[in-house]
Formats: sequence, C-alpha cells, structure tokens
Amino acid sequence: MDSFLIEGGVPLKGEVLISGSKNAVLPIMAATLLTAETCVIRKVPDLSDVGFMAKILRSLGAEVSLEGGTLTVKAEKLSGFGDYELIRKMRGSICILGPLLARLKEARVSLPGGCVIGTRPIDLHLKGLQALGAAVEVDSGYVRVHAPKLDGQMVFLGGRVGPTVLGTANILMAATLAEGVTVIESAACEPEIIDLADFLNAMGAKIHGAGSPTITVTGVKELHGAEHEVIPDRIEAGTFAAAAVATGGEVILRGARPDHLGAVLDKLREVGGVVTRNAGSLTVRGGGVLRPVDITTMPYSGFPTDMQAQLMAVACLAPGTSIITERIFESRFMHASELMRLGAEIAIEGPSAIVKGGRPLSGAPVMASDLRASAALVIAGLAAGGKTQVNRVYHLDRGYERMELKLQALGARISRVPGE
Ligand code: EPU
Repeated sequence: MDSFLIEGGVPLKGEVLISGSKNAVLPIMAATLLTAETCVIRKVPDLSDVGFMAKILRSLGAEVSLEGGTLTVKAEKLSGFGDYELIRKMRGSICILGPLLARLKEARVSLPGGCVIGTRPIDLHLKGLQALGAAVEVDSGYVRVHAPKLDGQMVFLGGRVGPTVLGTANILMAATLAEGVTVIESAACEPEIIDLADFLNAMGAKIHGAGSPTITVTGVKELHGAEHEVIPDRIEAGTFAAAAVATGGEVILRGARPDHLGAVLDKLREVGGVVTRNAGSLTVRGGGVLRPVDITTMPYSGFPTDMQAQLMAVACLAPGTSIITERIFESRFMHASELMRLGAEIAIEGPSAIVKGGRPLSGAPVMASDLRASAALVIAGLAAGGKTQVNRVYHLDRGYERMELKLQALGARISRVPGE
C-alpha cells in the first residue's frame, strides 16, 4: 500500500486548480442509467471512487468510457442485478438503486456495509422508495426493490440528524420517471443535490426547488441523453484552504465556489485565516496568530462533516481550547489518536473533541483510516516539524485527485512511496 512521506514546515504558496466534485459526480454517474441514450459528463475527477463507479455501471451492462476528465455512458442494455462484491465495497454505490428501479421497475443490490465513520443505515432511502410504491425486501445481504409502477407522493426524508444526501439523490432520481408529482420534504440542500437536479433537468426531468428543503418533481415518461459539467469539489477546496492556514502560506484556489464554502470559510477566518474573493478564485492566507474555534458539524449550509477532520488539524496548531462536535457520523474521530502521535493534545468526550492547541507538532508515522481523516493527517504533517509518513493513502486516492502533485506544485515536500 502506498504512503506519503512529508517533510513539514514549508508554507504552501501558489495556485491550485480545484477538481470536479466527487460527491456530485457519483450520483450523476448513477443518473446516466435513467436513459438508454448517451450522456456526456465533463470535469470528472480522476479518482479511484469514480473508476469504481464506472466498473459498477459496466457490470450492469452500460458502455462507459472515461478519458481526459470526460465520461461517456450509454446504458442501452441494463440489468437491475448488481454484482454483490463490487457494490458492497463502495457506500456511494447505493444511489444506483433509485435509477434502476425507475427504469427497470426492479433492482437488487448488496447492502452497503457500515464503515469506520459510523453505521450508515439506508432506512431513509428505502422509506422514500416505499412511499413511491416500491416493495422492499432485505435478505441475505441484498436489498431488492420492485414496483410495477412508481407513483408521485409526498416523501418526508428527515432522519435522526437531519436530511440524507444520497437518500435525497435516490428518491429524486426515482421520482423523475414516476407518475404524477412527488414532493420531497426535508430534502438535503447540499450543492451536490443541485448539481444532480441540473443534470436530471438537462435529461428532460421536471424538478423544482433543489437546494431547498422542499423539492418538487413532476414525473415524465422518459429521459434523454444530456451533457453536463460537474461542479468544483468544495471539500477539496476547503482542504487546500485549511492546509494554507495550517502552514502559514498563501494559496489561490482556482475555480473554487465561495458560495458553496460559506461555513468553512467562516471558520477558517475565525481561526485566523484571511480569505479574499477574486473573479473565478479564492485566496486563502495564513501566517497570523491562530485562535481556537468551536465547530459543530451540520447538514448544509452548516459546517460539513467532510471538513471536520481537516479543521481539527488546524485547531491543533491554534493556542487555546477548541471544541469540535460531530453531529452527523458518530465515530468520525479516528484521526484524533493519529494527530496525537504528532504531539496534539485531544480528548474525546461523547460527540465532542476537546483540542488543546498550540504545542508544536512533530513528524511521526501515522495511519490513514478514512478519506477525510487522511487529509487531516496530511495537513498536520505539512505543518509539523520533521518527517511524517502517512500510511494507507489509498483512502486519499478515493477522493483527492493527484493530491501529492498538487501539493508539490505549492512547494510542499511530499512524495508518494509505493507500497508492495
Ligand atoms: N442516515 C440515516 N438513514 C439513512 C441515511 C442516512 O439514518 O437512510 C444518517 C446517517 O447515518 C448520517 C446522516 O443520516 O448520520 C447523514 O448521512 P447521509 O445519508 O447524508 O450521508 P451519505 O449521503 O451516505 C454523503 C457523502 C459523505 C458525506 C455525507 C454527509 C457521498 C458519496 N457521500 O454520504 O461523504 O459525509 O453525505 O454530508 O456523497 C466523504 O466524501 O468523505 C463522505 C463520507
């Protein structure tokens, strides 16, 4: 397994081009299954999760090509029976369920397992599909959904901690081909849902209100092929912004959308970063005195859980006590013990991490446990004195396009060490 070797202490300086969004492109790829016609998706990031989703689409019978950031899918022949092992491995693959059901009236996929960030149930996805008229059976690790036809309904998708992003995506996609009007209440408001709705509307769907908690979908008989450009990855942008502040550098985030980054930029300013908006880019500068922060993760437009670990790395450098509360995923603190190997002082109390920051960090070998935890370790390693080895960077390759090359271009001393 590859690892990153980082020699920290260099302030990042320069410009980085933000890639297309992982969490936007995965449901968009699933949406291409809603039509037999060709779909062309641009600005597709080169990530292992995208490669994996392409494999899943192929395993269902779709013709898929991915070249130079352009993905072409033609799902003329399609099977609703997904490969058990393939689908089980990637949580994001659950969003093929809605499109398969809508197009084929039947689908069977393996239940996605829990993962290190929490149990990750799919009860809300199933409740939504049931509301549209689907029968759901869960048996031997599979979930099977079938419906002779789907009917538009009022669907409430609020859960224990608020809306569900991929659940909203699934119901949105299924509702495009349902008969009549579907109203999704307590829908996720994430920009990735707006991007999906934009693509679906380009395919001929009739969706209003995406980005708000109430989405109305008027079903149509069929969807056609379409072209679409994926939005920039707000979490990648936030990660580079956090790295700029942590290293006391200055980074221009080319293509980043400030309107998608409100809560993240607010907290980066609070911790001591300086953020300026320019046409088509954002500049984030560190170097001043860092201050402690209080952060609670929330559904959009609150502070994203996918930036919690990276801000914890920054909080470790800010003198004083920061409190970071995770409200979306119960076990998303695996990075805390690894940050402590670098000298951070962190105590976990229930859903909160109490970070006593300001002690200089020093390099050490650390283990990446999930995608965003790995990003936090890279940020801490870039800010620490000495050498940090981040093991298991395959987690990073799932969601950050050529991260080490982008960091090298900003002056970081980072290299990939190939594993056996
Ligand atoms: N939940 C339920 N029942 C459900 C679905 C979700 O109780 O049926 C709960 C979850 O356990 C969690 C909360 O609802 O407590 C929110 O989960 P959500 O369904 O919104 O998560 P997701 O859609 O599975 C996406 C992203 C995650 C991101 C979350 C939250 C993709 C592929 N994944 O997951 O991204 O953390 O939304 O914003 O879009 C990442 O990129 O590192 C990542 C984990």
